[in-house]
Parts: sequence; structure tokens; C-alpha cells
Amino acid sequence: MGLFSREPKFEIMEGRPVPRHIAIIMDGNGRWARKRGLPRTAGHAAGCETFRKISNYCKKIGVKYFTVYAFSTENWKRAQEEVDAIMSLMEQYLKEAIRDMQKNQVRICFFGDLSRLSPELRALADEAVAESRDYEIQANICLNYGGRDEIVRAARAFAADCAAGRAKPEDLTEDAFSARLFSAGVPDPDLIIRPSGEVRTSNFLLWQSAYSEYYFTDVLWPDFDEEELERAIASYNGRSRRYGGIKP
Ligand code: IPE
Ligand code: IPE
Ligand code: MG
Repeated sequence: MGLFSREPKFEIMEGRPVPRHIAIIMDGNGRWARKRGLPRTAGHAAGCETFRKISNYCKKIGVKYFTVYAFSTENWKRAQEEVDAIMSLMEQYLKEAIRDMQKNQVRICFFGDLSRLSPELRALADEAVAESRDYEIQANICLNYGGRDEIVRAARAFAADCAAGRAKPEDLTEDAFSARLFSAGVPDPDLIIRPSGEVRTSNFLLWQSAYSEYYFTDVLWPDFDEEELERAIASYNGRSRRYGGIKP
């Protein structure tokens, strides 16, 4: 496994915590392909390889939760051919993940509305989730995910509980609301990375990112590597997280 043989650079990590939860907006696949005169779909295939590499590396250095933005509620606007290619890469990835589950020992979860996916892809997603549910390290794949959509769904679920007499408006707390999100039970991301030079959230983890640290880099996702991740973690480790308070 040449790709994963590199040891983590502990000279950067030494004495410093690795973020418990890292989230990544996997952006820049299309531009990576265009630069090479390739179709956008080739960029997505390369991005998928980077996902494999970086998720393995996160596990290796002790990250407990790894969340990736794979397809947004807005990405359906793209050409059917591109959408199909992304979904087919996801199918391929899930088949592998199911095959290698016992070796990898990673719990796979999905954030997003999977009902719009093909029955085949949905079945693979269900199988991966069910078969990996007892593992501790967790990978969350955001697929047909939108932060606003997630918040609206949670609000709707709570409103339905109120209408049915199961809850009262004053029962709604931040914790109760969080428990109705796709991310229920998952701690908020400590570090959110966006490659590709765009400096925006594009509807990613709007609720959960209230106090996340952001790291932006111009590197396109298919070119993102272990060293880039270490750079992001080093930047994270140099920050002072105050949560609105004051630290000496
Ligand atoms: C991210 O890469 C992958 C998805 C949004 C599915 P893009 O396809 O957005 O790549 P760029 O931003 O066009 O370069
Ligand atoms: C965000 O990237 C979504 C994913 C990476 C899956 P986009 O490429 O869709 O975001 P915008 O359009 O640049 O904001
Ligand atoms: Mg993009």
C-alpha cells in the first residue's frame, strides 16, 4: 500500500492534539480536470482517490470523526452525465467499503436525504451503514446534503411532535434541536477544510460549524495530500478557541 505507507509527521503533531472531528468540503475536481484537458468526470474519479487516501490517513493519526461533503442539495443543477458519474463513483466506493469493512473497521454514516438516489445506491448505503454500525471511528458522507435542508427537516420534525402533542414549543433546546439533525450524536467539527481557493461554506454544516475552525487552501481536492492535511492541523493547533470567552 505505497500510498499509505508514510508515517504521520509527529514533529508537527507532537504534544498537540489531533482534532477529534475533521470535516472537508471536497472541492476543485472540475478545475483539476480542466487544467489537464480532461472531462470533469475524470476530476471526480481523482477526487475519489484523494478521499480514500485522506480518510485512511485521518484514521492513522487518530481522528475519530471524519466528515466529507460529497454532493450537495444544489449539485443536482449539474449536467446529468456529471451527476451520474459522481453517483457511480459513490457506488463503486461503497462496494469496496462493504468488501473491506472488517479490515478497515470504520463506521460509515450518511448525512443527507438519500431518498432521491437510485434504489441500487440506496441499498448499498443502507448495507454499509448497517454492517459498520459497531465500529468506533466514524466517517460521515454528506450526500444530497444541504445545511439549510437539514435545519428545515429538524424544525419540521419538531413541529410535527408539537402538533401530535408529543412536545411543547418550550421543550426545544439547542441540544434537542441538534438531536434532530442528520449529525445527531456526532460532536461538532473542530476543523473544517475547504480546498480549491473558494472561501465560502456552500451550505455545509451550517448549524454544526458555529465554533469550528476553518482552513482554506488553494490546492485543488485531487491534489490534496497528507502534507496538506498536516498543514491544516498545524494551523488548527496554533489557534486559540475561545467560544466567546476569554483565555489568558
Ligand atoms: C467538487 O468539485 C465535487 C462536487 C461538488 C460534487 P467540483 O466539481 O465542484 O469542482 P470545481 O469547483 O468545478 O472545480
Ligand atoms: C460544494 O462545492 C459541494 C461539494 C464539494 C460537494 P460546490 O462546487 O458545489 O460549491 P460552489 O458552487 O462553488 O459554492
Ligand atoms: Mg466546486
